[in-house]
Amino acid sequence: ASGVRRGDDGALVVAGVDVREIAATHGTPAYVLDEADFRARARAFREAFTDAFAHVGTEVDVYYAGKAFLSVAVARWAHEEGLRVDTSTGGELAVALRAGVPGAAIGLHGNNKSDAELRRALDAGVGRIIVDSMTEIDRIAAAVRERADGRRAPVMVRVTTGIHAGGHEYISTAHEDQKFGLSIAGGQAAAALRAVLARPELELLGVHSHIGSQILDPAGFTEAARTLLELRAELAARTGHLLPEVDLGGGYGIAYLPGEVPIEPARVAKDLATAVGDVCAALGTPVPRISIEPGRAVVGPTTFTLYEVGTVKPVTVDGPPAFTRTYVSVDGGMSDNLRPALYDARYTAVVASRVGAAETVRARVVGKHCESGDIVVHDVELPADIGRGDLLAVPATGAYGRSMASNYNHVPRPPVLAVRDGEVRVLVRRETEDDLFALDQG
Ligand code: LLP
Repeated sequence: ASGVRRGDDGALVVAGVDVREIAATHGTPAYVLDEADFRARARAFREAFTDAFAHVGTEVDVYYAGKAFLSVAVARWAHEEGLRVDTSTGGELAVALRAGVPGAAIGLHGNNKSDAELRRALDAGVGRIIVDSMTEIDRIAAAVRERADGRRAPVMVRVTTGIHAGGHEYISTAHEDQKFGLSIAGGQAAAALRAVLARPELELLGVHSHIGSQILDPAGFTEAARTLLELRAELAARTGHLLPEVDLGGGYGIAYLPGEVPIEPARVAKDLATAVGDVCAALGTPVPRISIEPGRAVVGPTTFTLYEVGTVKPVTVDGPPAFTRTYVSVDGGMSDNLRPALYDARYTAVVASRVGAAETVRARVVGKHCESGDIVVHDVELPADIGRGDLLAVPATGAYGRSMASNYNHVPRPPVLAVRDGEVRVLVRRETEDDLFALDQG
């Protein structure tokens, strides 16, 4: 996070707060989120895309994808910085509403929305429901009729462009053989668009595509935009209905390791705006309103996880080649960060409570769970004198960390602590054993 530095005696200081103080007051493991950094990244997306698309004569709405990490305060910050909020369940919708985000500034996603979720979205007057199946079209129409208040439901149709992009297979979403969206190639997308147009209960805002996550090559974004614009032009030619909006989804990649180059919002925005302008000119259609849904790139880099080191164990591998690896166990692991186990995701770590010896050892940071796959950091050089009681910081854990945390092995989930101007505020408190027992009916 941008506000992190080393203090006089070598300990990390974030937004004016010493990490040792955070650990002493709030315990470890903990997610530590730099509020100013979050706000700056949210603003950077809004400004970059607004400026770039102003050049091709249109406006952009930036939706913060709450699945990356959502709490009431974070939803409010996003909204205060001029973002809307993308939700994918009734639960996320409830958080956004509690934060005071107006319904009109919220989108609802989901490949299997329940009737209760649809009703809740209509009650809240959400700005868009993103349709993900043919049957959902009928169910939204039925929910609208039930309300009988004369208001149509604003919808977008999520389509699959066939573009393969992003990191791990589990997070790439626009190829054909997966559960999201309606296929353009297979004709379901066009059928869904016509079905929505035929429904007086629905207002068709546009088409949506999310091609994947942790994308570092921006070419996929422009390719997807072209495909959506062509689909829009075809629909206009066939039905006379020109979709006012195109939603390009999220997926902007971040740096997890030293030397990795993140997607630069200003650069992608410029490339995308140029591409959208050119394609629309070639198709002879006006430029639509654009929306995007970044999650990871807004919150991921703002947060680090603070762990305390417990057991340190050198393990000698006979080889060939023979080597020694130091296993550094911390007080969390796959219950607070599932990404290494699920996606083979890579992180780095630094000693946070002091500088440590200049000499280093080849280390692997592991959790406390009963799995050998419970790895936090696969491979990192740590000071040779790393030991029990040291604090470790693992950077860039803000996205899909706490939001995918679990209670595996009955480990309570860590808190999320926001730091700003020398103050710590608990956004989400640490779970206790009592919380876990509260769910257990005996
Ligand atoms: N919009 C839609 C429709 C999405 O499905 C997603 C992410 C986003 C926006 C935000 O994408 P982002 O900008 O954060 O890449 N758990 C995985 C990532 C799953 C992404 C799911 N959808 C991970 O930890 O890498």
